[in-house]
Amino acid sequence: MNTQALEATAKRIVADGKGLIAIDESTGTCNKRFAKWGIPQTAETRRKYRELIVSTPGLGESISGAILYDETIRQRKDDGTPFAKALVDVGIIPGIKVDTGAKEMAGFPGEKITEGLDGLRARLAEYAQMGARFAKWRAVLAIGDGIPSQGCIGANAHALARYAALCQEAGLVPVVEPEVLMDGAHTLETCSEVTEEVLRAVFKELYSQRVTLEGLILKPNMVLPGSTCPKQETVDEVADATVRCLLRAVPAAMPGVAFLSGGQTGELASARLNAMNVRFKSRLPWALAFSFGRAIQEPALEIWHGDQRNAAAAQQALYHRAMCDRAARLGEYNA
Ligand code: 13P
Repeated sequence: MNTQALEATAKRIVADGKGLIAIDESTGTCNKRFAKWGIPQTAETRRKYRELIVSTPGLGESISGAILYDETIRQRKDDGTPFAKALVDVGIIPGIKVDTGAKEMAGFPGEKITEGLDGLRARLAEYAQMGARFAKWRAVLAIGDGIPSQGCIGANAHALARYAALCQEAGLVPVVEPEVLMDGAHTLETCSEVTEEVLRAVFKELYSQRVTLEGLILKPNMVLPGSTCPKQETVDEVADATVRCLLRAVPAAMPGVAFLSGGQTGELASARLNAMNVRFKSRLPWALAFSFGRAIQEPALEIWHGDQRNAAAAQQALYHRAMCDRAARLGEYNA
């Protein structure tokens, strides 16, 4: 294992005030987002949309890496350039989602376990050969009556650690994503307790699977009140709770935290990340960056609407949100 190369890639992902863009929606999820705007759900429309994103002028000013999906990494631009090469050409590192989805967990009603370990070594080798330099695996933890359970937290943490070890063996930086969902009426305090417990479990498993912390990126949720909780804390309160939780559970050896957006609006995700960097940056051992999907893409998808005549305007919207997130990393975002 080339630890130095892994460390260099991990550092590059969070360097220069940049972050990741997640364009790794599975075919089903991408189709669902298209359906909302009446966009035809075909491989060709998905290809056109992803081409629009990877070809956005200036995207590399704010984006260090793009997370692709199995279908997308095999697709090309109209001019025949593979998406992975098009990204490298503008200084963006290609990455790939490698889990095969969160499935109902047997014996644990209402909870999910992420699948995809079988055959992963061979798939990682193929993706590395296609140009991927990092990978992503998402575990999903829901908050509800008596959940998440120890059984679900433990099984997902173990799978994340086994995935991370295989990634590092293949020379890919693992982006480790344990997502505590914001769905529900739970409080910010509950989210904080659950997130801390989940992160502790994940780092314990990463340690026991001999994963090199310097060569990985953590992709957590922010600590938020449930989306239907009557009490919605301020931006600064969310920033404080999130950083407090991470400081308790995330080892200092890890180079960067890249938050998921999880259904927050682009503006709120930027504002909360900005507040964390304004208030705490100088005393944190890791970079606080972003790995947003919806929070960067949503306005662009709405503008595009499946009509290529809107492509340039959609790219401008995408560029704008990505630059807002860069500003948030620097503590310079102004809503
Ligand atoms: P969101 O930012 O839309 O949550 O997507 C990030 C991601 O990659 C989820 O796995």
